Amino acid sequence: IPRLPRLKPSTVISKEKREKLDAILGPLTLTNEILTRIMAAFREQMLLASSTDENARKKSDHLMMNTFIRELLDGTEQGDYLGLDLGGTNFRVVLVRFKDGVAETTTQYYSLTDECLSGPAAGLFDFIADSIEDFVHKQGLANSEKTIPLGFTFSFPSTQLALNKQVLLTWTKTFKCPDGVGEDPVAMLEAAIKRRTKDLPVDVVVVMSDTVSTLMAGNYLDKKCRVGLILGTGCNAAFVENISDIEKWTGDDKDPRHVIVNVELGSTGDGGCLDFCRSEYEKEVDKFSNHPGSFTFEKSFAGMYLGELVRLVLVRLIRDGILFGGQGGKLVDARWKFTTTDVTNIESDVGDSTNNTRGVLKKFELDSIATDEDIAIVREVTEFMSVRGAYIVASVMSVLVNYVRLPEVTIGIDGSLYEKHPKFHDAMMEIFEKYSPNTKVNLILAKDGSGQGAAFAAVSALKQAAKGIR
Ligand code: GLC
Repeated sequence: IPRLPRLKPSTVISKEKREKLDAILGPLTLTNEILTRIMAAFREQMLLASSTDENARKKSDHLMMNTFIRELLDGTEQGDYLGLDLGGTNFRVVLVRFKDGVAETTTQYYSLTDECLSGPAAGLFDFIADSIEDFVHKQGLANSEKTIPLGFTFSFPSTQLALNKQVLLTWTKTFKCPDGVGEDPVAMLEAAIKRRTKDLPVDVVVVMSDTVSTLMAGNYLDKKCRVGLILGTGCNAAFVENISDIEKWTGDDKDPRHVIVNVELGSTGDGGCLDFCRSEYEKEVDKFSNHPGSFTFEKSFAGMYLGELVRLVLVRLIRDGILFGGQGGKLVDARWKFTTTDVTNIESDVGDSTNNTRGVLKKFELDSIATDEDIAIVREVTEFMSVRGAYIVASVMSVLVNYVRLPEVTIGIDGSLYEKHPKFHDAMMEIFEKYSPNTKVNLILAKDGSGQGAAFAAVSALKQAAKGIR
């Protein structure tokens, strides 16, 4: 498969070490054959999840979930809407004020404590209610006469029963509350609001995944945006599907005759379809993750895992005496401490500059012993694992693009992995050129789309209610 014009093989790496490095990276190389198999496996999971046969659906790693969201925005919207964004590293509350075709957006971040992430779910939802109160107060909306429609981005695999009703299937990523699974996030939020002494002037009209809200936000920027993608802590995608093409569709067929479908693709491979290409490093990341045995696909590259994957390869090189003269320093025992931010920093070293790489190594007290050869190896491994990740995710997105069957598709992307990594975009584009040759694919950043789009979806919910769309 094509290669990016990336780092020139460094001449400071000796022949002997180059051979050893190649022997370790070789088995991780994504050949055309491997990528084609990943794509076939992904397509099969999508088709199973779309089936009318419930048993087939149960066998799929995907959900292909009907979100009930049918209306996209057209620029004529007016008024104030709120959005919540829960699921990544920060919790956000967003106010969107539509005025004369402009969606003026104000966002506030609230840090989630460890107690929120792993204590009882009621505590998490109390924190959300407190944050809403703080936000509406600061925005001068606390005594609003009318309730403000609110869209809730809740980025965990869930069964969607109505626009504002879901059932949580499992927590993922950094969240591991002991309860909440099997419950409706909207009901949990409403209960937290009720527990407060003072009522909040909000009406939760829609709940969705971050991919769905990002698609809404991307579509507001570019009407050709029919796919939303998250490349952040986790990874997932959603797309606009014609209801006539959804075999399992049971809703009405009023206009608009399309609906947003949430693929829930981070779990691809949970049933074993990717076992043929899982490396020892991916298995180790999974073993020590919050939710072992699940979310196989996203553990190959998503923001929560990419740094750790790079670290594990570096540790292997240290153990084999290829790096730092076999001296591991703090890196060997630093599980989860080498972050994806470290990866993007290293990748942001341009040309011969090695300042960022040395800065990252300093964190692990390795900068003083690192030779130029070590630095070159660290940079090569970081780039290799990054581009490998970009190829993996783009290959399945290419399947989705081909499934959508349009001559031109824009993918709206939110998440810091895409936003901050200097090579992800180009590496992904290589894959689309190769595997979606008949579609013009555009990738756009829908920055903070997962929060803003939640407020946009609240508009959809009201439009749909006015039209009596189920
Ligand atoms: C995880 C979640 C999914 C979410 C994605 C991106 O895969 O399970 O629901 O959309 O992360 O945040």
